[in-house]
Amino acid sequence: MDTMDQQSGTLDYRRGKISGAVYHGGDDLEKVIVAAYKHYCVSNPLHPSVFPAVRKMEAEIVAMCLRLYNNPNGAGTMTAGGTESIIMAVKTYRDWARATKGITEPEMIIPSSAHAAFDKGAAYLKIKVHTIPVDPVTRKADIKRMKRAINTNTIMLVGSTINFPDGNQDDIVALGVLASKYNIGLHVDCCLGSFIVPYLEKAGLAEGSNGKYKLYPFDFRVNGVTSISCDTHKYGFAPKGTSVVMYKNAALRRFQYYVYPDWSGGVYASPSLSGSRPGALIAGTWAAMQYMGDKGYLESCRDIVTCARSIADTIASSIPELYVLGSPPASVVAFGSKHPKVNILEVGDMMSKKGWHLNGLSGPPALHIACTRLTVTMVDTFIADLKDAIKEAKITPNGKGTMVALYGLGNSSPLLCEVLSSKMHSIFNGSVSPASREQHIAIPLNEEEASIQPSFLPQSGSLSSLSPTDHDMSKEKERARLEIILEKECIFLKGTGVDVEPARLSGHVALYLSESTSIKEITLQFRGKARLPVPSHESISLNSAPLTFIVCNHEWSFLEGEKRHSHTLKAGRHFFPFQLQLGGSLPSTVSTTVFGGAFVAYKLRAHVSRPGLSHNLQSQIPVTIIRSFAPEALEYQQTLEIENTWPEKLMYSIMIPHKAWACGDTVTALVKFSPLLKGVGVLNINTSIHETVKVYTRTGHQEHNRAVASMKHEIMPMHYRIFLTRLVQGIAHLWIGSILSFCFFTPTVIPTLKQLSCNPSQQSSNQFVSQSSVKSGFQSRTWWPRQSITPGNRTLQLSDYNNSQEAMQRVPDYQIASRGFIGGVPPLTSLRDLPSYEDSQLGTRTRSDSDLASRFAGVSLSPMATVAE
Ligand SMILES: Cc1ncc(COP(=O)(O)O)c(C=O)c1O
Repeated sequence: MDTMDQQSGTLDYRRGKISGAVYHGGDDLEKVIVAAYKHYCVSNPLHPSVFPAVRKMEAEIVAMCLRLYNNPNGAGTMTAGGTESIIMAVKTYRDWARATKGITEPEMIIPSSAHAAFDKGAAYLKIKVHTIPVDPVTRKADIKRMKRAINTNTIMLVGSTINFPDGNQDDIVALGVLASKYNIGLHVDCCLGSFIVPYLEKAGLAEGSNGKYKLYPFDFRVNGVTSISCDTHKYGFAPKGTSVVMYKNAALRRFQYYVYPDWSGGVYASPSLSGSRPGALIAGTWAAMQYMGDKGYLESCRDIVTCARSIADTIASSIPELYVLGSPPASVVAFGSKHPKVNILEVGDMMSKKGWHLNGLSGPPALHIACTRLTVTMVDTFIADLKDAIKEAKITPNGKGTMVALYGLGNSSPLLCEVLSSKMHSIFNGSVSPASREQHIAIPLNEEEASIQPSFLPQSGSLSSLSPTDHDMSKEKERARLEIILEKECIFLKGTGVDVEPARLSGHVALYLSESTSIKEITLQFRGKARLPVPSHESISLNSAPLTFIVCNHEWSFLEGEKRHSHTLKAGRHFFPFQLQLGGSLPSTVSTTVFGGAFVAYKLRAHVSRPGLSHNLQSQIPVTIIRSFAPEALEYQQTLEIENTWPEKLMYSIMIPHKAWACGDTVTALVKFSPLLKGVGVLNINTSIHETVKVYTRTGHQEHNRAVASMKHEIMPMHYRIFLTRLVQGIAHLWIGSILSFCFFTPTVIPTLKQLSCNPSQQSSNQFVSQSSVKSGFQSRTWWPRQSITPGNRTLQLSDYNNSQEAMQRVPDYQIASRGFIGGVPPLTSLRDLPSYEDSQLGTRTRSDSDLASRFAGVSLSPMATVAE
């Protein structure tokens, strides 16, 4: 094993330079655990009657944890780790909600800082997840937004004490209030907080210092908390593969169990995911807890938290380039860069070179260190190395940082899943060292190149020895190919005003080489352009060329070193990950053919240059950016209603359940007629959806109108009808209740819904058209469906009002609703900040790069390419 360690480059965790991962309780404790393990080496608690002592130890571990989290009468089970504890809690709430509330399409609401295990559980158990961004400053769950996301299918909320990314704590008391009010579960993830957070109070550290690091209530004493996960294998210093999930009461825990009484193998019952379980780990955990005792955990809490706070304080007081994320109360400290010349991920790379193994975070870019007992003595070294790393990153910036590219992207991206699966595949079949930190992932073409195949894996005939992709590759041996693979081709910027959730553009540049090839440079450019036509009345007297603006520009260069040096890349597939936070006021992708054509378009362009006369490779793909309201926006909830009278003939009202709709959705409207004259009836209603394109130019604007869809609804003899109009499928530039506008002077779309009033006017003897007009507002003319009402001679009947009412209350599917919509762009005041807007005013670029960069969250903006004056 020493040889294996040496050959594979296993890091020496005892040097204390690893963030989290290894929670070592000391050499003596290690001996105790090994002895316990040896004693129960082959035991299996699936059969408690054979190993009653193991069963007793498990019960005692759970009981000790319940006491620690102030719920001695509660219930719980052991699991194989934090992830399993979380998945089990998710299953419990799913089954509980199904059994007690009949919920068949369960949903859960989690803050964006919640551990990925919740998403994993939701994916396994088919639960819809609403991920709510945390407050960018406090890094705590946004309670208001979480509340807004609750609906009748919600089964649970999640809060952490402490969260993994930045070690901050959510407001569990406020979450508890919501959970109680809506009678849903609240799981508090204390997997990481484990044996630290329950001891902070006793250690005298719960109040924090200088107004920072305060710990708020989080355990079962908080009203509404129904379950907690606590990892014994983290700060409990137990062997890896152990955790505890606890419930408010045993009745709730019942929903965690799986029981199958009719199995041909006998009655099967198991408390958690695994069937057979390692009794040895339970014995090891029990032994570790006995060994540590309250006193031991109290001491370790004091040491570790003091170490973490000392790091946080030193960063705040003596490293001006960095800032600490939030106010972490326990053992984890995350820090980002506030200096334009310091890329924190490059700092991470420098720290790696100094032997540190930190975690890279992606939203925002940051590094974190989870302090352990091994870190306690390393504070000074850490700070000194960090200061050096910052200096080095400043002096020799390479324009990228690799940590997040490899470690921080692991969410639900299909592309990334493919790449990471390949990487995992390589790790598990031995072709890539898990400890390696390559900047790109190279997957060899053939078996010979998978160099360090371990001897105990089958060399041939194994499923992994010829993957379909390897096979496909062999067909393409002749050609070198360059491809850009996007995680998502469509990027949604959700939210309005300052409340825009940044979105991530990410993916890989894939280079396929059939033979070793010399490469000079691999670059990628992301560029957004806006073009608007010259108004016809201007084109003769002024410059008649269309105006083009560069909206944003960002470039990556993937190969290290100087440009003139070539690199030789092996035959095979090479993936170069990239990512960029998009946010601020980037306009939506739009295009129109009216007025000679106008657009806002984004493109990624990759380029591989090769030395000498060898031909270069190029590839480009469009990227679509769509702005929409945040899923919980009022526009999806506010009802629109108008009422009016056709004098002496008819009173009518039209109600539309919400202002914003999704493409592909069905618009429902409730129309109610009350005849004022005997013999007046309604024969049919015509509805239509109109699109207005408004193009702003230097000297004014042009407007184009068209009906996107229209429909005639025959009226049955009743007072009111629901009528439905199918919206155009796909991503169309539609706005219901408002219009699509192109505002190229400020190159973005401004469909702002205005107050409506309805002025019916008689158009012919038997028909009137109610036409919309805008009472107030700017930029957009507002559309309103024309109600064409034909009086007939039937008397209207009152009927099924209740059903109609129900349809009106139907909540739209927010996921669909926020797809395919353009809307929710910031008001004009914030658009004034668009550099292209300002530059078009000034004709020059006045602001510094850093100023722009900071406001555009990672998007570097260049001035307009052409501003024709
Ligand atoms: C807050 C939090 N929850 C859950 C987990 C998952 O734990 P495990 O890796 O033991 O599955 C972790 C792991 O770091 C964590 O920090």
